[in-house]
Amino acid sequence: MQNNTFSGLFVGHNLITLKDVDSTNTFLKDAVSKSTPLMDGTVIMADRQFAGRGQSANSWQSEAGKNLTFSILLNPSFLPVESQFDLNKAISIALNDVLRNHVGPGVYIKWPNDIYINTKKVGGILIENIIQGTKIKYAIIGIGLNVNQVNFADNLKNVTSLKQVLHQDYHLMGLLGEICSAIEARYLQLKSGSLKKINEEYLNRLYLKGEIASFKFNGRIEKGKIIGITEIGQLILETEGQIKYFNNKEIEFIN
Ligand code: BTN
Repeated sequence: MQNNTFSGLFVGHNLITLKDVDSTNTFLKDAVSKSTPLMDGTVIMADRQFAGRGQSANSWQSEAGKNLTFSILLNPSFLPVESQFDLNKAISIALNDVLRNHVGPGVYIKWPNDIYINTKKVGGILIENIIQGTKIKYAIIGIGLNVNQVNFADNLKNVTSLKQVLHQDYHLMGLLGEICSAIEARYLQLKSGSLKKINEEYLNRLYLKGEIASFKFNGRIEKGKIIGITEIGQLILETEGQIKYFNNKEIEFIN
């Protein structure tokens, strides 16, 4: 275990690097459940996760030492439970901010919180909240970003990495510093109550927004157009003049 710091920031001020761990999210969850004292903004980064987790009980596969796999501990006690999707938005925008600086246009947020470059997934976010009463006591923000990996397992379809797109290697710690700084900025924007701006940015960067595309729901494939997101984070789809609302996993994007 190595202890570092990104100075001037609270996100990453306490940065712990592990060689091998099951999952950085699980590591932080365990630490919190044992009341281990950890600063707000603590970052746990791993060279290798042997049981990395994705959304909806999927696994997160990542070649050791080539990508970013890390989790951030935040105390968003200012956020009521029913506003938890706002945190997803702020984090998704922050990752998008950093990637846009490197890639330029073509970086999107695929609802609810995947990061896409053009039509391929480059990163994913898994936020696990620990609720106390009506407030979020802790949020564990897990982020996986494909950086220098160029070969992906056959079961991983539709994925890419920064290196595949830009044909250059990235310094992982440098990139992590940029991400921590962007997350801190967007998190503070959320905390200051600038939700309107966050909502606008999220919608502006939303993958396939306003375009006719194919989606699978209720066992059928239909054409429709994403027209927005509700306050609690449901996807709003217009199909044949009807408006439909979907929770995560109730709808699939058909590429
Ligand atoms: C998804 O796209 O399904 C979310 C992927 C989240 C992966 C990251 S890697 C670091 C952190 N630890 C985990 O076990 N998962 C998240």
